[in-house]
Amino acid sequence: MIKIKTFNFLRIAKLNSVFAIFLLGACVQGQIGKQSSQTYKNGMVVSANAYASDIGLDILKKGGNAIDAAVAVQFALAVVYPNAGNIGGGGFMVYRSAKGEANTLDFREKAPSKANKDMYLDSLGNPITQLSLVGHLAAGVPGSVAGMWSAHQKYGKLDWKLLLEPAIKLAENGFKITERQAIELNGNDSTFRVLNPDKEYLLNPLKNWKEGDELIQKDLAKTLKLIQEKGRDGFYKGEMATLIEAEMLRNGGIISKADLENYEAIWRKPLIGNYKGYKVIAMPPPSSGGIALLQLLSMIEDYDLSKYPIHQDSSIQLTTEVERRVYADRATHLGDPDFYQVPTQNLLNKSYVKNRMSNFSWDKATFSSSILAGNFNSKESEQTTHFSIVDRDGNAVSITTTLNGSYGAKVFVKGAGFLLNNEMDDFSVKPGTPNMYGLVGGEANAIAPNKRMLSSMTPTILEKDGELFMVVGTPGGSTIITTVFQTIVNVIDYKMSMQAAVNAKRVHHQWLPDVVEFEENAIDSLNLEKLKQKGYQLKLRGSIGRCDAILKNKWGYYEGGADPRGDDAKRGY
Ligand code: DON
Repeated sequence: MIKIKTFNFLRIAKLNSVFAIFLLGACVQGQIGKQSSQTYKNGMVVSANAYASDIGLDILKKGGNAIDAAVAVQFALAVVYPNAGNIGGGGFMVYRSAKGEANTLDFREKAPSKANKDMYLDSLGNPITQLSLVGHLAAGVPGSVAGMWSAHQKYGKLDWKLLLEPAIKLAENGFKITERQAIELNGNDSTFRVLNPDKEYLLNPLKNWKEGDELIQKDLAKTLKLIQEKGRDGFYKGEMATLIEAEMLRNGGIISKADLENYEAIWRKPLIGNYKGYKVIAMPPPSSGGIALLQLLSMIEDYDLSKYPIHQDSSIQLTTEVERRVYADRATHLGDPDFYQVPTQNLLNKSYVKNRMSNFSWDKATFSSSILAGNFNSKESEQTTHFSIVDRDGNAVSITTTLNGSYGAKVFVKGAGFLLNNEMDDFSVKPGTPNMYGLVGGEANAIAPNKRMLSSMTPTILEKDGELFMVVGTPGGSTIITTVFQTIVNVIDYKMSMQAAVNAKRVHHQWLPDVVEFEENAIDSLNLEKLKQKGYQLKLRGSIGRCDAILKNKWGYYEGGADPRGDDAKRGY
């Protein structure tokens, strides 16, 4: 029986509007600023934060490879970008070596061993939404430290200790926050205080952060030093495991020392697809991103997108129709492959995928109510952050990592100074009940002890003629997959530069709800009208995604795309 500590839900409900803004608007609104289109020969780092990109670049210049830089960037983001950068969360990495070896690393969180299918339902079987979103019970067993350790053990070149050093310095000595960060921290101040009455993390005594203020995180520095000293064990065993378990026991959480000790990051065989002569290296389940992206590209491949201009009714119609079909499959068929037989081959079968568009009509929307997931006779065996890195030799890393919502479960581990994730909400807490991104699921993604929750994270690498072509990924919850998809076709079909492809306005559909969501100015009134006439429901929303990508151009130089929707920064040399 799980002991649930009930928070003061009324007070939390009052804070809900704040949550809504910072959870759903995880990818905060920003003006489309000017990003330079400079290119670089030796390497590049593009991440959500300038300090982190600087650190990654410095590691590359010191002779570190892309994995070394990625480890340093991941830990730096845990300090300078606490909304999503993390050691208390998880993620996925797609790797391609300069010689063309492709590999993927799954460091997704997993359900604690005491988790059960109905743990977020009340006695009548109705979901208690807050429980999977906020507080200790929302947290999965973190995977990020194990992931970085595994990646470094396999491919790293520089000393592990050196890679932790910049993050430790930033935590210990502080760093200057941006205007956006000041707004986000102020917006969460009361939530942090209510949920963490015994801690003083990310708080400003005057409750008023301003751009340029220094954020110092002494306990986080101590935790990072332990990880620096002891590697993986510095987080999953000993002092830190004791702190995490004690935090759980005091607050009704269920992650145990044994859960931490047993956590393992898993190397998984990448999914490989092709799109118009480009090889696509994608993340397999428990991310839905790879399968969904390959289905989208394969479904749309028969249409010459360049004939359907971007942001016009025709291209929006096409992308919407492929997206609704793909997300219907996602809802039914995808989950942790170690617990559920995901029909990967069936889902990626070319004739199956192409046949899905057989009922598409240019004249009228296909309503989602008429689209079901494919039926197979045989079963076979807004906050996240993404960064892209290429080193001097051409090794490439694409990592998307997250706490799920902005600042995750919004609770810190006392004495350790880091935030816990609220990744349990990515499970289907009840069949057909949407999660915080509106995604529905069923048996494939039901909660089970030690199971990994389905993700939309889509770190991806593309190759052309055996050479690296693009490293791409983004945060954005359910919009991750469609953002990566749009960024790829913007470059391949619409011939945009990397930065222009990232800047371009985005449109999104995810089967349910049956609504085309679009960013401001993504669709003009004429095209809106044409789409409405065909039966499409359309809704303006805040910004979609924060895509950070690198393209190798035809002259062999790297050009970056840092998303102007955030504080994202590209660095190269
Ligand atoms: O794994 C997933 O699909 C989600 N936890 C990602 C959350 C996210 O991207 C929030 N960012 N805006």
